[in-house]
Formats: sequence, C-alpha cells, structure tokens
Amino acid sequence: MRRFSGKEDGYIYSRWGNPTFTEAEEKIASLETYGLNEKLQVKGILHASGMAAISTMLFSNLKAGQKVLTHYSLYAGTNDYCHQILPDLGIEAIIMDLRDLEKAEDVLKKDKSIAFIYLETPANPTLQCVDIDELTQLAKKYGKKVGCDNTFATPYLQQPFKYGVDFVMHSTTKFLNGHGTAIGGVLVGNDLQKMNGPVTKTQRILGGNSNPFDAFLLTQGLKTLELRMERHCSNGMAVAKFLEKHPAVEKVNYNGLESHPDYKVAMKQMKHPGAMMSFELKKGKQADIDFMNKLKMCVRTVSLGTAETILCHPASMTHYAIPKEEKEKYGITDGLIRLSVGLENVQDILNDFDQALR
Ligand SMILES: Cc1ncc(COP(=O)(O)O)c(C=O)c1O
Repeated sequence: MRRFSGKEDGYIYSRWGNPTFTEAEEKIASLETYGLNEKLQVKGILHASGMAAISTMLFSNLKAGQKVLTHYSLYAGTNDYCHQILPDLGIEAIIMDLRDLEKAEDVLKKDKSIAFIYLETPANPTLQCVDIDELTQLAKKYGKKVGCDNTFATPYLQQPFKYGVDFVMHSTTKFLNGHGTAIGGVLVGNDLQKMNGPVTKTQRILGGNSNPFDAFLLTQGLKTLELRMERHCSNGMAVAKFLEKHPAVEKVNYNGLESHPDYKVAMKQMKHPGAMMSFELKKGKQADIDFMNKLKMCVRTVSLGTAETILCHPASMTHYAIPKEEKEKYGITDGLIRLSVGLENVQDILNDFDQALR
C-alpha cells in the first residue's frame, strides 16, 4: 500500500520498473552527464526499443493542436512516426533543414503552436549534423522543449545535456549494447519532476518497458563502451579515407572528412567523428548491389553499432517507404550505401572492400 501511494520507493511490477533496468538506466544517465555541471540531475527510463523511447518522449510532451519541429534527415521509423502516427492525434510535424538557423527562427517566431524541437545528430543516413548548442539556445529563447536522438554518437562522443537540451534518447540496440544482442531504447530527461510524473506515467501506461535479460545484455555492453568506441572511430576514419581515395567511389559522407558539409559542427560537438558513414559509387545503384553482394566478411543487413561491419542500402531497405522525391530531397539517393564500421581488424575490412569493389 505504501508503494502504491508513493510513500515508499520500491519495485512492484516489471512494467513499472525492475532492479536490472535501474542498473542500466543509472549507468546511461551517469554517462550522459559525466563531467558536466554537478548540479545537473537526470533520470533515465529504459524502453523496449528506441521507437518506444521516442513514443514516450513525444506523447508526454505534445498534445492535440501542438506541433513538433524537426530536421529532414531522420531515422526512417521516426520519419514514419511524424507522417503516419502524429497527424491522426492532431499533432503536426514541421520538417525542415534545421541547419538553417535563420529560417528555424522565422518558423518559431510565426508558429506559436510548436511545443517541441526534435533533433537527430549525426542524422541517419546522411550524417548531417545540426548545431545542438545554437538550436537549443534558439529553442529556449522561444520557450520550447528540446529532445535529441544521440544514437549515432553515444555519450562517449557527444553529450547533448551540455548544451541544455531537455531530453536525450537512444536506440540502445546500437552502440550502447554494441553486440546486436537486444533491441532496446532509453529516454533520459533533466526535469526530475517531469520524468517522475508525466513521462513515467506515459511509459507505464503505454507499456513500452524493457525486459530484464535485454537490460542485462545492455549493461554488459556498456562496460566496454569506451574501448569499443575508440576502435569503432579509428576503424571508421581509416575506412573513410580508403573510400575517399578509391576510384570507384563518387562521394563519402563522413563527419571526420573536411569535405562533409557539417564537418565543423561535428567537430565542435563530438569528441571523434564516429563509425557511421554513407557513400555513393560512381556507377550507381547496380554497382552498389554488385559490391554489397560480393562482400565476404562485412554484413549486408539493417541496424548498426555492432562489432560487425554492417552495410545497408537505405533507398531499398530502411527508407524504402519514403516517396522517391522526398528521399532525394533528404539526400537519400538510389546510389547511397550506409555503413557502420565494426571492431574487426581494420585491414580485414579494407581487404574485403577492396576485393568487392574490383
Ligand atoms: C538514429 C536512430 N534512432 C532510433 C532508432 C530506432 O531504434 P529501435 O530500432 O531500437 O526502435 C534507430 C534504429 O535504427 C536509429 O538508427
């Protein structure tokens, strides 16, 4: 009775919380705030998936008649969420290039119904980066809440709370777990009253909870986050340089190459440029398919952030459902390949790419 009435803390039922979830939640919350302002207090809530964490974040911050402002290069599931779920609830998503701060301010000035700004940086699959600091300052000037998808960077490379965002979320399925052994998500927020109130209520009632075994696998992965990220990043840089010089490659989108349009923003807010990139081959889509089918070690599949090097073809896989004109506007051309560089011996990755590009 004391627990139900809130007079005593404690576990009741795993949809509402579980000690194995708490361990992972507290570790991720510590990583997201490590070395930042000591007064900053955050709380994490583990979810069944990254999409479940996004659902809790948006449902607990938006109501009918309000709008969310977001960037046009997004994970396809988040993009679908904006187009296929929110409109039926009377919530509109305004999708624009959030790298254009003047335009973003114009939109915020004119539209009072915008309640939330949602960032994903670096973004899927173009690796576009928005300036978290500048955008958060703008959001705060107009009294808006900000949420940031930190999946591609992890807290080891980027800590959005440093710039005053209100929420950070991850698909823990990716680098935080690191081994591709469990689907999961986490939502971390810096307003404890809100996190313990409407956010907890939304998560508990929607039922987007994790499960203890997946939480245990996530905690195992977190133990090696620093080691893995250092190796992911050094392998990533070597692969990006190899691809940039290769005669069959038209273009490489990697945050660590000066040729990337958002190189400066990435370097300002990230410790290293990460292990995610995308590239286009000179001969287009059929050459992509031939190359991917010839790979012997690297894996052709969805997902990212695991020990294996993973490649996917967004236009025909993850972003298949998005209309072609929209895809092209977002930079997702038919020839684009997305690459998550793994932890293998870097020469093995380069050898596999070299033989498949011949
Ligand atoms: C950047 C990003 N955010 C969110 C998600 C959704 O995560 P999940 O698949 O764990 O629901 C993904 C999945 O690929 C992602 O890449």
